[in-house]
Amino acid sequence: MASVTSLSDSVQQHLASALSATLPEAAGADPLLRRSDRADFQANGILALAKKAKANPRELAARVVERVTTGDVIEGVEVSGPGFLNLTIADRAITGTLAARYADETGRLGVPLAGHPGTTVIDYAQPNVAKEMHVGHLRSAVIGDAVVRMLEFTGENVVRRHHIGDWGTQFGMLIQYLDEHPHELDHGSHGDHGDQHGDQEDIAVSGEEAMSNLDRLYKAARRLFDADEEFKTRARRRVVDLQAGEPQTLAMWQKFVDESKIYFFSVFEKLDMEVRDPDIVGESGYNDMLAETCRLLEESGVAVRSEGALCVFFDDIKGPDGNPVPLIVQKSDGGYGYAATDLSAIRDRVFHLKADTLLYVVDARQALHFRMVFETARRAGWLNDDVTAAQLAFGTVLGKDGKPFKTREGETVRLVDLLDEAIERASAVVREKARDLSEAEIAERGAQVGIGAVKYADLSTSANRDYKFDLDQMVSLNGDTSVYLQYAYARIRSILRKAGEAGQAAPVAHPELELTEAERALGLHADAFAETVREAAAEYAPHKLAAYLYQLASLYTTFYDKCPVLKAETPAQVENRLFLCDVTARTLHQGMALLGIRTPEKL
Ligand code: ARG
Repeated sequence: MASVTSLSDSVQQHLASALSATLPEAAGADPLLRRSDRADFQANGILALAKKAKANPRELAARVVERVTTGDVIEGVEVSGPGFLNLTIADRAITGTLAARYADETGRLGVPLAGHPGTTVIDYAQPNVAKEMHVGHLRSAVIGDAVVRMLEFTGENVVRRHHIGDWGTQFGMLIQYLDEHPHELDHGSHGDHGDQHGDQEDIAVSGEEAMSNLDRLYKAARRLFDADEEFKTRARRRVVDLQAGEPQTLAMWQKFVDESKIYFFSVFEKLDMEVRDPDIVGESGYNDMLAETCRLLEESGVAVRSEGALCVFFDDIKGPDGNPVPLIVQKSDGGYGYAATDLSAIRDRVFHLKADTLLYVVDARQALHFRMVFETARRAGWLNDDVTAAQLAFGTVLGKDGKPFKTREGETVRLVDLLDEAIERASAVVREKARDLSEAEIAERGAQVGIGAVKYADLSTSANRDYKFDLDQMVSLNGDTSVYLQYAYARIRSILRKAGEAGQAAPVAHPELELTEAERALGLHADAFAETVREAAAEYAPHKLAAYLYQLASLYTTFYDKCPVLKAETPAQVENRLFLCDVTARTLHQGMALLGIRTPEKL
């Protein structure tokens, strides 16, 4: 169904017809409409058109002004500067457009659904088996989740892929160690339970426990591997067994994967994020494609043998010594690495999942890898003008000192510790402000605020930039934080509740009312939700949505300071202001949901 046209869309249409009426060759030209501080909208497109038509821009602008239909939507239009148009929107159009959107039962707040959606395969939230998750994995998960939500909301078919690191030579060492120390992955105090629970021994009771077992085992295996030459030899033989698919070895490998998934799921749950098991297709998922990928690349001449290895060379990629750095698809010992897996995954995603866009939410430090992988796939014809791939590269999480985030001992910070600390800090903030919340509610809100704070801090700066992990700032009630937005939402909900309790009629729009400055600013900004979501989704830029929401909450704060709602002058004005409150609340709620952040009803 057709969605409600936003103000900017209808202004755009008005201008486009005025343009083509003035200058027939300008039909279809973009008037370049922007929201502006000086007027409700500004159109900058006439400058370029005048240049093309060799006309005086101010004169052309004046002629366009004569053709603009004023009245229902556009109240006034005038030429400004070298040939811009400044447009003022009628109050009734602002309220009326929001009212139509409000009445739209789809609840989409004017955001249209794509008419011809494509299929995007998004590679995100890809931790590594038998390893702790760290802040890098946080970024991929949080950014990826927001992009999935935004794309799905605009109607795109999205296939999620969690390309976990579940294959590699390190498993030889782990499996061999487990084989020699079979009780190392046992759990809890199973000794007390007697034999009837024997089968249950290997099932971890919590993600934390699963990880601590894996971590202990990993460290012990590594220690033995480094110290004992004979163990090293046995471990290497295990790698060969694993690659050959020897059943007992594979079964033990599977134990590591299952144990790790228990841990991953516990972290994703803490992050309030849905990760589904069938979407976890790790590196091992492409094992049976690797040989064919190599064959295809070699036969087509895209890859060549060099010192026994199968390599792809690039003119513009050279090492510090000036020698070309190849992408190694197969090592000289026959082993396949990260590149072979990613190239096989591309084939799977393009030919089997029928993607037309591949998106990789991965650390910027892997940019060279992806550049080479994508270029190889293009040469092979797997990617082309119709099927494209892009890395949504994210920057590094820094400590307060501006250096990559480490513990005092110089170790990588465990993601779970960070999340727990965020929840703890947020709970303190909630507790301080809470008046009528129970302990259970404080705990629930504390988690929603704490996790929201971490997500918002990550999403509110453009992904490619580094950012400082500063919990004090993240849970601050003032400034560009999720807590500020959540409080704005809760405050509005409380007003709406109060109005209901006081027997106040439900919010009703009154387009006939004149609006104050603060009401107009809020209404115009609320109207921009659809175009903001469209742009943020198309550019994979959640930070644009975050900036929009922060601005919305700020405009609401101004509105609230200046315009009494329940004590407004007339009953119609009370209703209309309640309506503006509700529109703002719904927009905040939906916008935050697209970022993966909860908006509690009470705080
Ligand atoms: N597991 C990798 C890491 O922790 C990220 C995987 C990225 N995705 C991919 N298709 N290579 O760094």
